[in-house]
Amino acid sequence: MTARIPVGIVLNGVTGRMGYRQHLVRSLLAIREAGGVALKDGTYLWPEPVLVGRSEAKLRDVAERHGLTEWTTDLGAALARPDVSIYFDAQVTSEREKAIGLAIEAGKHIYTEKPLATTLHGAIELARAADAAGLRHGVVQDKLFLPGLRKLKRLVDGGFFGQILSVRGEFGYWVFEGDWQSAQRPSWNYRAADGGGIVVDMFPHWHYVLEQIFAPVTAVTAHVTTHIPRRWDEQGEPYEATADDAAYAIFELEGGVVAQINSSWAVRVNRDELVEFQVDGTHGSAVAGLRGCRIQPRAATPKPVWNPDLPVSHSFREQWQEVPDNEEYDNGFKAQWEMFLRHVAEDAPYTWDLWAGARGVQMAELGLQSAREGRRVEMTELDR
Ligand SMILES: NC(=O)c1ccc[n+]([C@@H]2O[C@H](COP(=O)([O-])OP(=O)(O)OC[C@H]3O[C@@H](n4cnc5c(N)ncnc54)[C@H](O)[C@@H]3O)[C@@H](O)[C@H]2O)c1
Repeated sequence: MTARIPVGIVLNGVTGRMGYRQHLVRSLLAIREAGGVALKDGTYLWPEPVLVGRSEAKLRDVAERHGLTEWTTDLGAALARPDVSIYFDAQVTSEREKAIGLAIEAGKHIYTEKPLATTLHGAIELARAADAAGLRHGVVQDKLFLPGLRKLKRLVDGGFFGQILSVRGEFGYWVFEGDWQSAQRPSWNYRAADGGGIVVDMFPHWHYVLEQIFAPVTAVTAHVTTHIPRRWDEQGEPYEATADDAAYAIFELEGGVVAQINSSWAVRVNRDELVEFQVDGTHGSAVAGLRGCRIQPRAATPKPVWNPDLPVSHSFREQWQEVPDNEEYDNGFKAQWEMFLRHVAEDAPYTWDLWAGARGVQMAELGLQSAREGRRVEMTELDR
């Protein structure tokens, strides 16, 4: 039998939407089902989850459902275990900084959901502390592993676009207020004091998508608002939505590319996917969503003529061509976990560290500053 190397991983916030579904079930348990993570020396890393949360009943339920035995409501005790080497955080955003700080003190490698912290100052402190302690660290950047964005990256790398001019992103859907139909996202997302807000939530995603697929972001201009000021929580109680639920932003990228991204929980979807990015370049354009990606090369670009007196005689959307998969796409969260585990176990390269996470928090903070002050704000390099 092939050697299995157990790796103890504290999973904090494992009863939440992301912690349970994406990280425990679709990533770590899926890795176990596949036999572990294959290392270069022929051995297999075998994740041993230690579930951490606030509710004994919920943790016991999750553990029993999946035949797991290790769980506790005592984070300190979990971090003191010598058989644990990695701390993972998928708690509500407002709880993250404190918990990661404790995990760094305990000498555990850090892997975490985004945003890394609610403030840039907090994010930088964590990145510095993890470096100073000589630990490995990483932040979830799942969108990069989506089939649609992988195909987009392939187009960029293959030179399809010629010179890239602009990127337009549309993200959002209607999140029900919670009165006559329950809301489909947790209520803390709409309270500023609990780390909510669409800017803090989504700008970290937009940051790595722009930086990793196109070029580093150099400046941010944003208009941020709360369209729906009153919502109803999980208990059916009304509350004031103190956090922003829509952001209309322009991001300037190195090399002159202009990216415009609308993010909103108060729009109705008239697109093929919940997020779409249109990229226009001198030699071609593409529209990428979560899974699909369509292109229109320069040579196949029709010549529309503006004439409001005539009805449109053809469908513009049918003039685009689907990009083939050409490879199999695994769950993005799982793929990134495997890379992080290899990074910890055998020093495999890994780009998306806490500094990358801090740059995402920086862009969120600058977006809010831009909106507050009504001006364009430049991104500066972080001081390590
Ligand atoms: N990568 C992504 O695409 C993505 C998507 C959604 C959310 N997230 C991030 O994941 C994290 C969790 O989001 P979620 O949607 O799973 O939230 P959720 O409300 O479903 O889960 C939150 C978890 O945190 C725990 N928790 C700890 N302290 C808490 C407190 N004081 N109040 C409430 N809950 C507390 C809860 O018990 C639960 O396990 C957030 O930081 C969010 O930004 C990432």
